[in-house]
Amino acid sequence: MALDRRPAPNDLNAFWMPFTANRQFKKAPRMLVAAKDMHYTAADGRKVLDGTAGLWCCNAGHTRPRITEAIQKQAAELDYAPAFQMGHPKAFELANRLIGIAPEGMEHAFFVNSGSEAVDTALKIAIAYHRARGEATRTRLIGRERGYHGVGFGGISVGGIVNNRRFFGTMLGGVDHLPHTHLPARNAYTRGQPEHGAELADELERIVALHGAETIAAVIVEPVAGSTGVILPPKGYLQRLREICTKHGILLIFDEVITGFGRLGAPFASQYFGVRPDMITCAKGLTNGVIPMGAVMTSGEIYQAFMSGPEHVIELFHGYTYSGNPIASAAGLATLETYREEGLFERAAEIAPYWEEALHSLKGTRHVIDIRNLGLIGAVELEPIPGEPTKRAFSAFVAAFEKGIMIRTTGDIIAMSPPLIIEKAQIDQLVGTLAEVLEATA
Ligand SMILES: Cc1ncc(COP(=O)(O)O)c(C=O)c1O
Repeated sequence: MALDRRPAPNDLNAFWMPFTANRQFKKAPRMLVAAKDMHYTAADGRKVLDGTAGLWCCNAGHTRPRITEAIQKQAAELDYAPAFQMGHPKAFELANRLIGIAPEGMEHAFFVNSGSEAVDTALKIAIAYHRARGEATRTRLIGRERGYHGVGFGGISVGGIVNNRRFFGTMLGGVDHLPHTHLPARNAYTRGQPEHGAELADELERIVALHGAETIAAVIVEPVAGSTGVILPPKGYLQRLREICTKHGILLIFDEVITGFGRLGAPFASQYFGVRPDMITCAKGLTNGVIPMGAVMTSGEIYQAFMSGPEHVIELFHGYTYSGNPIASAAGLATLETYREEGLFERAAEIAPYWEEALHSLKGTRHVIDIRNLGLIGAVELEPIPGEPTKRAFSAFVAAFEKGIMIRTTGDIIAMSPPLIIEKAQIDQLVGTLAEVLEATA
């Protein structure tokens, strides 16, 4: 008789969880069962204040009616349309709406399903763009140490987080890295953008001199590096990178997967910093995290470089079954409308000084060695336990969840990025609870 190998319905074993300490989690699961506005509900019924907008994605807060209704309606009307050689109106409408809030110069949107896919798509477009213009030697890609660009082979190759790379072989060839801009000795406890470090952009000149500009396709950076634990661009750094890229005919890609959709109080970080890239990758906040979707926005020049040859021939041999999926498009449209109607990007800019003040009040709290902030992003760096890196921050994360706040940790850095609808009293609760947790953490 065949064995019934079906596990019990509450067996946690089958699901191999991503970026998770599976054994620890499955011994003491942190389950979320519902969400509304600024709060999650845990399985035991407790309300948990969301200090991270899920994973930097629910910028408008949770289960917003306009978005929920748009998804329900779309699912009943047009569930799926082939993404290749066919279209449906909402994907075109969303591309227009997205370009409408994008920095000047961004004219086209290519839809994907995640930040990782957005990054790999942008890297491929960069290489193919140069080839289309007769510069096929430009294949080299430049990322940055401590950068996070998702988990595709392209993204981990240009990325610079060691544990995301070391287990996965040789990755893409022809990749180099800029140094990161984290200079705690000079910039610790800076409020907003650090004063020191713009000269680190000049390292790009060294890389160009080493490889030859004619071999380099693109530079990709996060305007604010998030997943590595929040590293801010020193004043003038991004402007300098832009100048050097322009000088050498290298495309500049801003990975705005976390900085897009109001995180800094402007639609995109490019607008906040006044620096215009050639491509922008985005995801997460595009649909408020509700349905997977991402996009690569490109300049008109990049798009036009592909629009040659016979008209019946596909111009870019790239795309995904779910590129511009109808339900994702509907979610995206409803999300952008929610941001607009509620003025959420402006709201983030308004409340950012209060956020900064509250975060920096943690200076002097037990274990804290640095605090960084910009827009509605904040990081509190802890002194690691000698010989046991990550343990202290992870303990704080677990304790914080027990005390009703959700924070996020990378290494020994606590990163926070609340929904843009957060109220001042909720900022006080987040920061106050974190202070209690840190004082009680070994
Ligand atoms: C800057 C950046 N790029 C890419 C990604 C990857 O996005 P996804 O997890 O949707 O693939 C992330 C995710 O946090 C990110 O922060």
